[in-house]
Amino acid sequence: MDTKLLFQDAAGFATPMLAVFAVDVAAGKDADPLPVLLNTSDTVTKAAAKVLGSGEFKAGLGETILLHSPAGLKAERLLVVGLGKAKTLSADEIRKGAGTAVRAAKPLGLREVAIAFPEDRAISDEHVDALPCLLLSRALVEGAEIGEVDYDTYRSERKDRSVRSLTVIAKESEKREREEIQEGFNLGLIVAGAQNFTRSLVNEPGNVLTPTVLGARAAAMCKEAGLTCEVYSTEKLHELKMGAFWAVAKGSTEPPALIVMTYEPEGGPAKDLPVLGLVGKGITFDTGGISIKPADGMEKMKYDMAGAAAMIGSMKAIAQLKPKVKVIGIVCSAENMPDGNAFKPGDVVTTMSGKTIEIVNTDAEGRLVLADGLHYAKTLGCTHLINAATLTGACVVALGMLNAGLFSNDDATCAKFEAGLKASGEKFWRLPCTDDYKDQIKSQIADMMNTGKTRYGGATNAAMLLKEFAGDTPWVHLDIAGCAWNEETKPWLPYGPTGIAVRSIIEWVRGYSA
Ligand code: BES
Ligand code: ZN
Ligand code: ZN
Repeated sequence: MDTKLLFQDAAGFATPMLAVFAVDVAAGKDADPLPVLLNTSDTVTKAAAKVLGSGEFKAGLGETILLHSPAGLKAERLLVVGLGKAKTLSADEIRKGAGTAVRAAKPLGLREVAIAFPEDRAISDEHVDALPCLLLSRALVEGAEIGEVDYDTYRSERKDRSVRSLTVIAKESEKREREEIQEGFNLGLIVAGAQNFTRSLVNEPGNVLTPTVLGARAAAMCKEAGLTCEVYSTEKLHELKMGAFWAVAKGSTEPPALIVMTYEPEGGPAKDLPVLGLVGKGITFDTGGISIKPADGMEKMKYDMAGAAAMIGSMKAIAQLKPKVKVIGIVCSAENMPDGNAFKPGDVVTTMSGKTIEIVNTDAEGRLVLADGLHYAKTLGCTHLINAATLTGACVVALGMLNAGLFSNDDATCAKFEAGLKASGEKFWRLPCTDDYKDQIKSQIADMMNTGKTRYGGATNAAMLLKEFAGDTPWVHLDIAGCAWNEETKPWLPYGPTGIAVRSIIEWVRGYSA
């Protein structure tokens, strides 16, 4: 999408469709909805007055109403987009509202859309402080860019419903405010670009996106973005003695890929600054291996590389945002297949760190590739680690699709991650991985086993294994199994890959940039 920012009066902007946000300011639970526009232009307010007073539009989140030839406006259409209750308004509603506006244009066949920047003064002074323009602007752009994409590239008769141009219209204001809006706008474009890149990778079917192809896509991105990238395969796994990663990979005729992407800040990293390691699970298809999964729903396991894609996308944004901290992205990619060469339950593998793992279930493969990935990151000098993985069904059972799992061995590092969630608008819920759970992964014959003793607390059991390999290094683990794929089309988001974790990982990295 060609996305621009203009400072002018929204009423005077000629466009096929101008979208304006509205909130419900009604107080009390049983009060009738009282929709109010987040816009201070008299002309725009007048044009929408009748429909807002009609009771037909309640300003619920994702609700829209369309007016043709709005009086006094240069726009051909006025779309009022509901954001829900004024009281609960946050940047995330703006993100969703912007996505809703862009997606509403698609069935109408409109190629150009304008969105009026929300003027929160329309509600109350309180909101001016609570919702800084930079955050609003960024969220608006992100929502619009994310909502625009439809994953229909594999349809032979594609209905092209792309919206090609978006103009964000903010009114003329003080220079400082304009600068903030511009800064948020620029940031939003970078972050959304990264998230959409991640989503495009996750959307690819397993027969197209093999580990080798994932490596090639990462390398192409790095080349364009100015990052160093190395893509290794089988030989390197043997050389590094990555016995756990190799165990997973060896049942497939597709060779594995170990992808290392490096960002160095200008002038090199300062000596006392951390080196951040971003480690991703890149199983391009997870059959479960010899502990094979049931056929029902197995097709979804093409998104078992969403953690890897999140890291590759994050690196793309990092290259553009240029934080003052060194970042290394590491992806462990393989296909988990049953085969004559496949690893088996009962096998014992020796990881790169030297620790041994008894394989009890070959479907618990993500923690194996990450065990070697996390250790490798430490040998490359990473002082702080974060990993993302569609790791456990148990995490989906525990948290559903709205919150992803968050685990950490270090409160300060975890707090740093949580501090970025307001800006990212993503939801992560911390679950335990304290040492009293260690007993759960005790093996009779090796240092640990790759499943828990029981199926209870499965997300924590997986985290406990990763924790062994993070060791003393501060580490955050994101279990995104429930949030990486959107099953239900929403007004602001199509069915398919979500790109979860990209925005929060970028914020976490930015948090270390002094
Ligand atoms: N890739 C799956 C986890 C998963 C489940 C991702 C649902 C997305 C949606 C992972 O490799 C797996 O199969 N985990 C097993 C572990 C078990 C065998 C200990 C699981 O969660 O059942
Ligand atoms: Zn599995
Ligand atoms: Zn898996």
